[in-house]
Amino acid sequence: MEIIITDTAYDTANDAASRISTFINNKPNSLLCFAAGETPLCVFTILIDLQKKNHVDLSSVYYVGLDEWEGLSQDTKGSCYQVMSDNFYTVAGIPSSRIKRWNGICVSPEDELNDVYQYIIAHGGIDLALLGIGMNGHIGFNEPFTGLPKKCIRVKLDKTTQSVSKKYFDIPTKVSYGLSIGAGELKNSQKIILMATGIHKADIVKSTIELPNDISIPSSLLTDHQNISLLLDKDAASKFSL
Ligand code: F6R
Repeated sequence: MEIIITDTAYDTANDAASRISTFINNKPNSLLCFAAGETPLCVFTILIDLQKKNHVDLSSVYYVGLDEWEGLSQDTKGSCYQVMSDNFYTVAGIPSSRIKRWNGICVSPEDELNDVYQYIIAHGGIDLALLGIGMNGHIGFNEPFTGLPKKCIRVKLDKTTQSVSKKYFDIPTKVSYGLSIGAGELKNSQKIILMATGIHKADIVKSTIELPNDISIPSSLLTDHQNISLLLDKDAASKFSL
């Protein structure tokens, strides 16, 4: 696994954005999967800036949502789709025909999981996944001990995830289950960019690197991917030893 450590979270985002824009320019019409959450927000801002300068056409590729909180609509502030829409899709002017979004208030989660999975298959799999590491190591909503499921999954959210979720919502919002692309399917991506920034991620980054293939640390299950880059700022990288 390539590990890149930069001075600041901005530098980490800049590196990620530059890799993504090069990828898009080399492979228009590819399928990208971006995590929502706080970590990639600056990546989105930089990508949009690169597009304004005509360095990349962000509408030349397709996007599939990584995950969604079950029970939250796409309009709910703090839902994964709303975060992606407000910070990326809408600002970047991505046509809705280029986006596969999750419906967290679907009547049948089983149909929803299959629908997103079929979209991925129809595109020949995910080409590039930009992922954040959760406080418990989760990837998407692949919680500890979920393993490497292929396809898409409905997962009972871990206590840590339920507690951390409060940062995304303005009003108290109970979340119990998540809908997510399975870690096995993510691991099939041609390229993975895994990101973590901030001192609060230092412990889980240490575990990710020092305990490869540990089922209790989902992020560690990706580290033997043939084309993965772990991008860290120096705070997130402050505790591990190689
Ligand atoms: C978000 C997602 C999550 C986050 C992870 C890190 O779509 O799937 O796995 O990437 O929880 O979240 P932040 O970046 O907010 O620390």
